[in-house]
Amino acid sequence: MKKITIKKILNKKNKSPITCLTAYSKTVAEIADKYCDIVLVGDSLGMVLYGMKSTREVTLDMMINHAKSVKKGISKSILVVDMPYQTYRNKKEALANARSLLKYTKCQSVKIETDKNNVGIVNHLKKNNINVVSHIGVTPQKFKNFNKIRAVGSLESEKLKICKLAVDLEKAGTSLIILECIKKDLAKEITKILKIPTIGIGSAVNCDGQVLVINDVLATDKSVKKLRFVKNYCKLDAIIEKAVKRYCYEVKTKKFPKKKNSY
Ligand code: KIV
Repeated sequence: MKKITIKKILNKKNKSPITCLTAYSKTVAEIADKYCDIVLVGDSLGMVLYGMKSTREVTLDMMINHAKSVKKGISKSILVVDMPYQTYRNKKEALANARSLLKYTKCQSVKIETDKNNVGIVNHLKKNNINVVSHIGVTPQKFKNFNKIRAVGSLESEKLKICKLAVDLEKAGTSLIILECIKKDLAKEITKILKIPTIGIGSAVNCDGQVLVINDVLATDKSVKKLRFVKNYCKLDAIIEKAVKRYCYEVKTKKFPKKKNSY
């Protein structure tokens, strides 16, 4: 299988949609790698795996451990790893932590949640030969409780600010920009203005690519509130429940293990 490069991803702009999914383990990464251009180890893992209320408690070590596992499942796609909350508060801290992520996980790019205050950090990382994916719009690390979000881009003042931020990030050297929960006309406008690709999540169809959290694609957790932009492509929770129920039934009725399962 031919390896995908960041250059190839950039060349997809205006040609063919970029596919990205999150993964947190080797098993899922192996499957995502077959079909996706980019596999993202998102700090969403704090919420979907660890049951945290927000992504703020995720640590660099957690990201490194999961990214190492994911890397083992990847043979062709680009691996991007999130920098967790408060690991890129200034240039020095950002560079040291980004280098650790690169060193231990062998990822091709880090991702940071950006606003006007950290465009300089993107530029600093780029100058030090680190590829950066920026994340704008609704940026989950800003929320102590992520269920209370509102799409960005209804107000005129907000539209101008977010467009300027996207342009500044492109100038600073970011490779790609994730647009999260940005109103569709604004996401379309940003995608048109920029030369680099945009990857949308909750930002409608006109972005250059799309990303979703794998647990939302699979519907692993009934108790999670389904946001508008989420689409379940199967009901894994029901499949798991059926298997677990059957297993317990077979143990209780001594139908498992059989002779062939024994030594
Ligand atoms: O953490 C994450 O999974 C993300 C995606 C939702 C873009 O940032």
